[in-house]
Amino acid sequence: MPVRGARKPVARKTVRKVAPSVPRAVPRRCNQLDGKRWLQNSISVWSDVRKTAEEQRLGHPALFPQQLVARLIETFVAGEGAVVLDPFAGSGSTVVTAAGMNCCGIGLEISSEYIATGRGRLEAVATESARHSVIHHASAFELPKLVDPESVDFCLTSPPYWNILQQRRTADSKAIRHYGNNTGDLGTIESYAEYLDRLVDLFRAVYNVLKPGAYCVIVVMDLRKKNRFYPLHSDLAGRLTTVGFEWDDLIVWNRQSEYNNLRPLGYPAVFRVNKVHEYLLIMQKRAG
Ligand SMILES: C[S@@+](CC[C@H](N)C(=O)[O-])C[C@H]1O[C@@H](n2cnc3c(N)ncnc32)[C@H](O)[C@@H]1O
Repeated sequence: MPVRGARKPVARKTVRKVAPSVPRAVPRRCNQLDGKRWLQNSISVWSDVRKTAEEQRLGHPALFPQQLVARLIETFVAGEGAVVLDPFAGSGSTVVTAAGMNCCGIGLEISSEYIATGRGRLEAVATESARHSVIHHASAFELPKLVDPESVDFCLTSPPYWNILQQRRTADSKAIRHYGNNTGDLGTIESYAEYLDRLVDLFRAVYNVLKPGAYCVIVVMDLRKKNRFYPLHSDLAGRLTTVGFEWDDLIVWNRQSEYNNLRPLGYPAVFRVNKVHEYLLIMQKRAG
């Protein structure tokens, strides 16, 4: 019972202690992927990459799908505005996809036919970045003249696979389609050792234009000529470490769904492997 004259109990104000606001450290991001996509892209075999009907119609013998390019850019590029290079631009898949993702694409290509295709595809991209993207009619070896040192955020490329397109495709006997005989075409060099040396020279130039810490993904396939096997992926990656690259990792691009007429190679005399995959060599320039 309240006592008369007694002071009313004063309602105690509860003062919430507010912790001094310490700015939260923003986590360093190497890309903008959410966890689900990050996990998907981290799986070492990619089997679900497909060419669109338009890409199939383009007629370049070794075009890689824009879906592959987009997946690599979203994985190895921190965000929009990045500079993405392809010194063997072909029909422009890297440059065109980069421009569509608001990055600036730079390509070099020696075949006038493929340049026309690539530039046509680039014109159809309606982003501001497409206006700043370019496909040079130039040899990859002119890179130091065209691109500033340490200005590139990501390189994605696929060189000619030695002169293998000049010979019959054994796995499914599809017709031969090579890049033509342009002067300086790496796909016309006879000697494997010389071909590798030229690639090393080229990737030394790529190394110089990459920013420290940037990645260079090279799409390659191992080769066989008659009885001899050429492990191009490891031969090339090993040599590139002498230029300064770290061989960071490897993804297998499984293309089995594109081969619908496989034959039992060598049957029954000598067992031969049907190669239906390519490698994505993940090379990195040291962070300085
Ligand atoms: C494997 S293809 C690249 C295909 C490309 N990724 C695409 O999606 O269309 C290799 C390309 O390198 C080109 N090439 C060969 N030697 C070259 C050189 N020295 N400089 C620039 N391009 C070259 C060929 O004309 C061919 O288009």
